[in-house]
Amino acid sequence: MSASNSTRPHVVIAVDGPSGSGKSSISKAAAEKLNYKYLDTGAMYRALTWFCLQEELFDENEIFENLINHNFILNISVDPRIDQVSVNESDITAVIRLDEVTNKVSFYAAMPKLRSYLVQRQQDLVINSAQGIVVEGRDIGSVVLPHADSKIYITASDEIRAKRRALQSNTDENEVLESQKIRDNLDSNRKISPLVIPDGAIILDNSTLNFEESVAAFIQIVRGA
Ligand code: DC
Repeated sequence: MSASNSTRPHVVIAVDGPSGSGKSSISKAAAEKLNYKYLDTGAMYRALTWFCLQEELFDENEIFENLINHNFILNISVDPRIDQVSVNESDITAVIRLDEVTNKVSFYAAMPKLRSYLVQRQQDLVINSAQGIVVEGRDIGSVVLPHADSKIYITASDEIRAKRRALQSNTDENEVLESQKIRDNLDSNRKISPLVIPDGAIILDNSTLNFEESVAAFIQIVRGA
């Protein structure tokens, strides 16, 4: 099923941007204020990565077999107030944020069959949403929802992004900057669905904005669409 304007009755907002831009927290807060649903597609890639590490799966075809044989039962909350992800009934909400998963996601997210599978799941969640929805990730406006009502690309300078991550995780800023560069590079240069500014996207650079100002700017873009 395609997620074109003619097949869905509700407002769809596509959000993309690099890691550390604050796009998840801004999108979630804006979705809550707008009374929309919220889908964190990065959490879906993280959940699949967690499953593959757990099952010691490294080969794309073998992983895909598991997907089509329904060995990977993913449940993700689309309520912006409830952060919950489970796979095969194990709650993995917290564990998918650990370094051992974070450092491996790019490896699995570069596999075309796995991306197609997750993109289809994402489009189905949007089509079945009973409300407007904010969908956030790296390829949303370009691949998953090219016909979204609004496309927002959230970003901030490399240094500001690293500083925020370092504060959050209580780690060294330079270390974060280095690992951020590696991840940005992998996400932006992979052959399939690289992180790009999608056609028609409005750029929200929040380097000089605080959180409330960023959420207000987001809502203003949506309302102005
Ligand atoms: O947004 P995040 O940091 O939780 O995303 C985790 C990883 O998943 C990140 O390395 C990029 C990848 N990702 C992707 O390739 N496509 C998406 N739509 C969302 C995330």
